[in-house]
Formats: sequence, structure tokens, C-alpha cells
Amino acid sequence: MKFGFFDDVNKEYVINSPKTPYPWINYLGNQGFFSLISNTAGGYCFYKDARLRRITRYRYNNVPIDMGGRYFYINDNGTIWNPGWSPVKTELDEYECRHGMGYTIIKGKKNGLKAEVTFFVPQNYDGEVQQVVLTNDSSEAKSFSIFSLAEWCLWDAQDDCTNFQRNFSTGRVEIEGSTIYHVTEYRDRRNHYAFYTVNDTIDGYDTDRDSFFGSIYNGWADPQTVIADKPSNSFADGWSPIASHYKKVTLAPGESKTLIYILGYAENPQDKKFASEKPEGLLTRETWVLNKEKAYAMIEKYNTPEKVAAGLEELRNTWNSLLSILNVSTPDDKVDRMVNIWNQYQCMVTFNLSRSASYFESGIGRGMGFRDSNQDILGFVHQIPERARERLIDIASTQLSDGGCYHQYQPLTKKGNADIGGDFSDDPLWMILSVASYIKETGDWGILDADVPFDDDPNGKHKMLEHLDVSFYHIVNNLGPHGLPLAMRADWNDCINLSCFSDTPGESFQTYTNPKFAAEGGYSKVAESAFVATLFTYTGPAYVGILKHLGKDDEAAKAQAEIDKMKKNVMESAFDGDWFIRAYDANGEKMGSKECEEGKIFIEPQGFAVMSEIGKDQGADIKTLNSIDKYLNCEFGLVLNNPAFTKYYIQYGEISTYPGGYKENAGIFTHNNAWIICAEAYAGRGDKAFEYYSKIAPAFTEETSDIHKTEPYVYGQMIGGKDAKNFGQGKNSWLTGTAAWNMVAISQYILGVQPDFDGLRVDPSIPHEWDGFKATRKFRGATYNITIKNPDHVCKGVKSMTLDGKAIEGCIVPVCEGGVHEVEVVLG
Ligand code: BGC
Ligand code: NOJ
Repeated sequence: MKFGFFDDVNKEYVINSPKTPYPWINYLGNQGFFSLISNTAGGYCFYKDARLRRITRYRYNNVPIDMGGRYFYINDNGTIWNPGWSPVKTELDEYECRHGMGYTIIKGKKNGLKAEVTFFVPQNYDGEVQQVVLTNDSSEAKSFSIFSLAEWCLWDAQDDCTNFQRNFSTGRVEIEGSTIYHVTEYRDRRNHYAFYTVNDTIDGYDTDRDSFFGSIYNGWADPQTVIADKPSNSFADGWSPIASHYKKVTLAPGESKTLIYILGYAENPQDKKFASEKPEGLLTRETWVLNKEKAYAMIEKYNTPEKVAAGLEELRNTWNSLLSILNVSTPDDKVDRMVNIWNQYQCMVTFNLSRSASYFESGIGRGMGFRDSNQDILGFVHQIPERARERLIDIASTQLSDGGCYHQYQPLTKKGNADIGGDFSDDPLWMILSVASYIKETGDWGILDADVPFDDDPNGKHKMLEHLDVSFYHIVNNLGPHGLPLAMRADWNDCINLSCFSDTPGESFQTYTNPKFAAEGGYSKVAESAFVATLFTYTGPAYVGILKHLGKDDEAAKAQAEIDKMKKNVMESAFDGDWFIRAYDANGEKMGSKECEEGKIFIEPQGFAVMSEIGKDQGADIKTLNSIDKYLNCEFGLVLNNPAFTKYYIQYGEISTYPGGYKENAGIFTHNNAWIICAEAYAGRGDKAFEYYSKIAPAFTEETSDIHKTEPYVYGQMIGGKDAKNFGQGKNSWLTGTAAWNMVAISQYILGVQPDFDGLRVDPSIPHEWDGFKATRKFRGATYNITIKNPDHVCKGVKSMTLDGKAIEGCIVPVCEGGVHEVEVVLG
């Protein structure tokens, strides 16, 4: 069952029922000011940091769900409704929500009155613009009123939802004309404020929540002021400050009126915090007055429909240009809309927000993840390489000089997070991968020479290349008894914690130190990760390639020898006959092996082992891929492990705390489905690669939205696996490494357009029935129009290739100096 449709021309998903199976959201803003907005206008906004600069309030885990947002209430002669249906939930005559690239348009119609609200955050602007167009579609004149509503959060979102003994007394506002200013704590230690304004006179207002709702027993769905059509002109004094404008409107038949609301944020320098005079008409309870110069300028910027149209146009142009870098035309519309629009869009969002704020991540939990942010670069780097470069340097600066890493860092301070600490065994390797992908995209070898300090040597002179060296050798220097990397606190799978045996509720599986291993540095020197071994053999060649390019042949040979040794160790100690085992636990027992009672096979090591060609001469790659198909493949994707754990295995850590079929215990983790898609494509099995791709790619889940529940335009982290009661149900949408990795899987492995150090590799691995496809790729200043022909209906194999009509050897298009170039590839 569907709840909307894709409008590819406008790059929008159009939702035509407000009652989606879960709130389907969009993100506005891509620089400093961000908003989350659901299809019923729920959600919130923040400036840069979802925890420390939360502007509007949101209650996660609320009943009913998604109560709280920026709402417009219309009272049309006693009929009260919202353009987005919620929170009053009056049945609408028409409803539509269009989630587009950085904007959302919500339209509602009731009794001949139409309200169309466009929400967006303009480029280089710290505010959300909400343009409301009211149209009288009836044949009679209409007089009605419109109330706006936003509830302020008291800045620190964590404190806001816990420290009530203080917060119920601190809320402050100022009101000037049609603008309501939120100034809680401004007098004392803050220099930022927020405001909510409308570009017209108002007929009343409210700034105190309980006054607006009319009683403490009323809420979003039944505000008494709206029902009575009478604002209370309240002035917040502690409790919960809000901002609500009241406006009476009369429209002749066919007439429209546009109102522009702006929800903005501004910061003042310390010495310019206060205005010297109190302007006439300003409502305040204070003896001081906020300096509002910045707000005035912001309001001026978007106070007419023409200015709003120009802002929207600029946003559209920005996105059109970002999406013009890679564009494909394949025999499958769903692939095109994923590659050309939604997957790239999601990659931008994950790059910006890491795992901080979604409808499943509260914005008060994690900082930026070391491994997460590095992987996010893989899907984003072609869009704005300069921002990727900056991010790489920020991340690398949190690394320690021995190659270890803080697992997370805070975006505001850019400092490693000591509470979480380090010793996650996979972290350093992702950095080699992300830096290599940046160089492959841009050809900017100069990044290796950039000064990048270590966290434990902030003033030392260190180069980016040194970070790659220590990353690589951090693995080599921390091997266990079988010569495989130590598993430490966790690897990519946060829930395989082979050292943190915990039988006490509340102990963190990742940071708790088992006394047994305290003397050894906090983790077992026996437990080894076969996954990290294969990630090492997959990533290592990029490091070797970098060294060779720099002419460091001896170092390259030394690194290559380590990779070869690791492959040998994996084949000797971690190949189980038909697949690769997952790990050795702290007792030296195999995990993810035929010998195990449950969890006999895991997905993680398999893809990278295949792509590293470990045991290929003995057929290990095909045996492994076939085992995945046999044990992990199911209707909605590939489960993480099989059989699911039904008991608690203390020696494995968090993984078996989940019921079977969910999350890391045999859920369909879409992130590492991509590694198998890549591996199938690598092995030349384009049909299988595409089968797996299309099981999880959002556009393909659209038809089963009632089962899948989350947005059909973006990936979620997890889908309930075959052992789950809710088989096929998506969770944790938006902020997941799945976005980047599936972008890599489809564009670089299946469609096979893959940036490399010396040019653009074109080596597709597609469904055999495709006749071919076309791709346009801007790469290092030139544009390549690529045509793939598949006359023999093979999956993989470049038979011939021409660049501007001239044959080229192999399948790497050399870097051209600017211009537009035609590349023709014949498979066979
Ligand atoms: C989740 C993981 C997540 C981790 C973060 C675990 O409970 O299952 O997916 O990465 O928490 O700390
Ligand atoms: C989500 C985390 O953000 C990511 O870092 C981790 O790899 C996966 N969960 C798997 O545990």
C-alpha cells in the first residue's frame, strides 16, 4: 500500500494522506540552521548542535506520536483545522505534503478555504521561512482567523527535558509589533536569541503556553484560544514560553492572501548584547532590552513573496547543481530516482547531521562518530569536496598519535568525547578509506601534506599522511593469537563486545571495563575480529596506492606484505569452509562458525573478504556468496546473522540482548547489505547484486509502505529480519551509514562508475537483461557523458571502450582537462 508518489520532475515525494504509518519527515537547512519537519508539520529546529542550541521544543516518545511542531490553526466560523491535519485532526477535504530538496510544502483545504504552506531554510540564512498562502476557493466571501504556534525550547535540549525545578521559572520573552523574541537566559550568560515574526500586523498574540491552550489540561489538539477565536495576549513569565500570532482575514471569492512567517536565530557579540533604549511599544518585563539589529535584517531579507520566491529559487538552483554531478538514466525508474535524487540527498543529510537528530535519534545522545563520519564522506564527497576535506581534517585531529581514535567527537568543540573513549577496533581503517575516496574524487594529493595535529599532541607538527600511517599500523600492531586484529571494545558492530561481559543492568557494553581485562588495557588480548581483518585487506590497498603515488616504494612494499600476511591468516584461521567466521571470543572460541549453536554465519566479514579476493583461487568467494544467499537472504533483504540468538551469550556482549530479528541480532542491517551488493557486483554477479539492491532501496519499498512504515524515499538503519514478528518493518530512518554505502554500491559497483587515483573507472556489473544505460559524471573539472551498451546481455565485462571516439585500453577513463567528453563502453 502506498501513501503517495514520487514526482521526479520536481524532485519531490508527494504524500497524499496525513496518516502515514510513521511520521515521514524532511530536513530543511544544510549549513547552520536545521529543521526536521514531518508530513503534518511536526518537528523542531536547532542551530548547529541539536542538543546545545535547540530552538523549538519536541517531545520524543510522546503519545500520540509527533505532537509538537510549527502549526497553523484556522478557525473558519467554528470549524477548526490545520493545513497539515495535525494536531486538531479535523478531516480535510484535500491534503498534500510535498517533501522536496530542502523544502516542504503542505497544502490543506476545508470548506472552500485553501492553505498552502511552504517551509524552507534559505541558503546562508539562520531561519525557517514559512510562507502561508490562503485562498478562498468558494463562491462566498470568507472571514476567518489564523493562529501560528511554536513552542520555545530553553536551548539545552537535554536540560530542557529533565531540569524542571529550574526551567519552569526561567522562560522570558519580549514582544515588538508582530515579532515575538525568545530571550531566556539572554541577560545572564547567553548571547543568542530566537524570534518568530509575521510580515503583517497582528490582531493578538500569545507567548505563554498554558494561556494559549487555555488550561493545563488542554493541549495541541484543543487550544482554547483557537476554539474561542480569541487570543489571550499573554506574556510568558517562566513556565513554557511560546510564540503565537493571531490574525483575522477576510477574502472575497477567488481572493488569496500571503503571510510570511519567519522562525529565526541570531547571536550578538558580547559588547553588543543590549540596546541602549527601549523603543516605544516594546513589551517586556525586564530592565534591559535585547539588541535586535540582526533580527531586523533577517526579517527584512524575506518579508515579501518576491523575496521568498528568490530564496526558493536559489535553494532549487543549489540542489540542481549539486545533483548535476552524477546523473544516470537506466532501464529502471526507481534506480534513477534513487541515484539522481534521493540517495544523494540523504547523503548530504547524513554528512551534515551524522547520527544526531532524526525521529529515532533524539539530538541529545551522540556526537559525531569517528567511523560514521568517515563513512558518510564516501557518499557525499563528490557533492562538496571542500566540505569533505574540512571534515576529514576535523576528524583526523581527534585521532591519537598511536593511531587509536576517540570513537566520537562533539561538533561544537571538535574535541574527542572522553566519556565514550576509544578502542573500537575498526575506527582507524575508515579514515584510510575516506581520505582515499577524497583523493580519488578530487586528485587533491595536497591533503596528505596538510597539517593535522593529534589529539594527544595538539601543538605537534603532523601531516595527514602520518594519520594514515598510524591508522594502518594500529591494526598491524594489535593482533591476537591467530594474527587477526584484536576485537577490542567493539568493531563496526557496536553490539559485538567480546571483552565487556556484563550482567549488571545499565552498564554500557562498549565502555564498561571488565575487571578481568583491566590490567591488559581494558580489553581481551585473545578476542579477535575477522571482520576488521577483512576491512584491513580491503582498505589496505588504497594506502599502498597512496604510498606508491608518493614514490615511497619501500613503505608500499612493507604495507603490502602486511596485507598479504593478513589474507593468509584469515584463510588459515577464519575460513570456515563455506564462509568466513566472525570472530574469536575471549575464550578463544569461534563466533559465527558452523560449530556454533546459534549465530553460525554473520554478514560483516564476507563482503570485504570477497572483494579482497581472500581464497579466491580456492573458490572461497563464490562459496561465501552462495552461503549468504542460502542463510541470510530473505524477502526484505539480508539478515545480519543466522540463526538469530535466542539465548543471552554473555561473552558476546550486547548483540544477544536484542530479540531475534531486530537490530544487530539478525535484523536486516541495510548498511552492510551494501557490502554484499558491492561484493556480488565485484564478483561479476550483477543479477544478484541488483536483487539485493532492490530489496532494500527505499523506492522499491514504496508499494509495501504499510509494512515498511518508514519513508519510501530514504534508507533506514534496520528492517525487521525473518525471525522478527514485524518482518519487513523499517526503523531508524535517515541517519545511517546505509545512505553512503548504498550510494557507493549502486553508483560505483553496480553502475560501475568509480573514481580512482588516475581517472574514472567504468566497469559496470548490471542485471543481464539491461540493454545498457547512460550516465553523466562531472569529475575533476570535466564532464563525461557515458553510454554503456550491453548487446550480449552479460552482467559484467568491458569488451571495448572509447573516449571521444578513440579506443582506450582497460576501463579507466583518463583525467581530461575540462570540457565535455563522450565515453562509450561495450560490455561483452
Ligand atoms: C545499537 C547500535 C548503536 C549503538 C550506539 C546500540 O544499542 O544497537 O546500533 O550503534 O547502540 O551506542
Ligand atoms: C549504528 C552506529 O552508528 C554505527 O557506528 C554502527 O556501525 C552500527 N550501528 C552497527 O552497530
